Amino acid sequence: MVKICIIGTGYVGLVTGACFAEVGHHVICVDNDEKKVAMLKAGGIPIYEPGLEAIVGRNVATGRLRFTCDITDGVTNSEVIFIAVPTPPRDDGSVDMRYVEKVARTIAETMTEYRIVVDKSTVPVKTGEKVAQTIKRYNKHKAEFDVVSNPEFLREGCAVDDLLHPDRVVIGVTGERPVAKMEAIYEPFQAPIIVTDINSAELIKHACNSFLALKISYANALSAICEASGANIDDVVHGMGLDKRIGRAFLNAGLGYGGSCFPKDISAFTHIADALGYDFALLKEVQHINAQQVERFLKKIHDTLWIVQDKTIGVLGLAFKPDTDYVRLAPAFEVIRPLLKEGAKIQVYDPQAMEKAKEVLPDITYCADAYAAATGVDALVICTEWDEFRNLNLEKLKKVMGHPTVFDGRNIFNPQLMADLGFTYKSIGR
Ligand code: UGA
Repeated sequence: MVKICIIGTGYVGLVTGACFAEVGHHVICVDNDEKKVAMLKAGGIPIYEPGLEAIVGRNVATGRLRFTCDITDGVTNSEVIFIAVPTPPRDDGSVDMRYVEKVARTIAETMTEYRIVVDKSTVPVKTGEKVAQTIKRYNKHKAEFDVVSNPEFLREGCAVDDLLHPDRVVIGVTGERPVAKMEAIYEPFQAPIIVTDINSAELIKHACNSFLALKISYANALSAICEASGANIDDVVHGMGLDKRIGRAFLNAGLGYGGSCFPKDISAFTHIADALGYDFALLKEVQHINAQQVERFLKKIHDTLWIVQDKTIGVLGLAFKPDTDYVRLAPAFEVIRPLLKEGAKIQVYDPQAMEKAKEVLPDITYCADAYAAATGVDALVICTEWDEFRNLNLEKLKKVMGHPTVFDGRNIFNPQLMADLGFTYKSIGR
């Protein structure tokens, strides 16, 4: 058992803390948001993440997991301190590191004996060095310490499973003492552990997200070629994916990637590369293709409807991907906003994300279910591939729609079946 403190109880911090407690460690989760801490103490969970509520409840009950706003409590009563605060993008796409710096400073001023300080947030390469310098500068009680980089690879929507069953654990550090402690934390997860230097660990995280985004943009670029040539993207990526060197994952063409990670991280990595003197043009093109994908989709809508003004358009799916209520940088909004601007009437449904969406787009109609969002519409647009949408009764759907026109941004239906049912059906790359 290791005594752990996690500073920052956002997505990564909360799921990591809960899963560390689940495997037997003692965890203190610290956050400066008093409302959030009060909610967690009362058994509430601020995010929608399958399985998380049960794990938090179970571990709070055993006393292995607790929440506090008091950073001194966390630093004093733990051996290993994880920094899991946000690293938001600045306007120019670079990373705002002020929260990491502030936490490093506070840890330095608070700790009175040896501590391992672990960076869990996604950060630019060389952050570990800066964190170490900061702790050294503000180390009030001259306590010994080590800095570790331990990037997180969890996905929203299956974060608990990703954390409990990781493909690998990356530990960036020098020195035997912190390695042994980090291995003790991760030993119960029974995953391969890679120990490397801090810079390499930090780079692994950026390299992974960028490569996954590259795969998505590659499939999306192919979808444009498929449309122009009459080929079918489903068959193309199936044929590619069976090659073990390529793999089928992250080759789904659609409206492109969104969310809190890929857009921010790819942009950050191009900035980091620029700052290091390398023009990562490949990644800039990945971003360009991603933006183009929504534009190409909007063009299909315009080509079919001609004038959008005063038309009623139903939208299924707002979350940036299924099984999450997360709407930040969701492609759905990139589709909805221009249509709204042109005077379309928008009515939407999402199984989980409507509350969060209302904060961003209050002036559209939120519906009780998919059929209600489709009722009377000139066209229906699918932006997120929730299973609930795959299982819709298509005949019922067609009956409620004003015109049976479907723009499927996630390729969830079979084009032949849709044609047979009498829909005008446009999807991506097919
Ligand atoms: C991503 C990574 O997958 C995680 O490994 C990483 O830890 C996380 O970022 C992070 O840096 O914190 P996440 O953003 O939760 O996780 O979501 P993904 O499941 O990776 O999906 C990202 C986006 O790509 C979504 O918008 C999804 O719709 C899109 N996508 C994914 C596609 O368009 N096509 C695909 O084939 C796969």
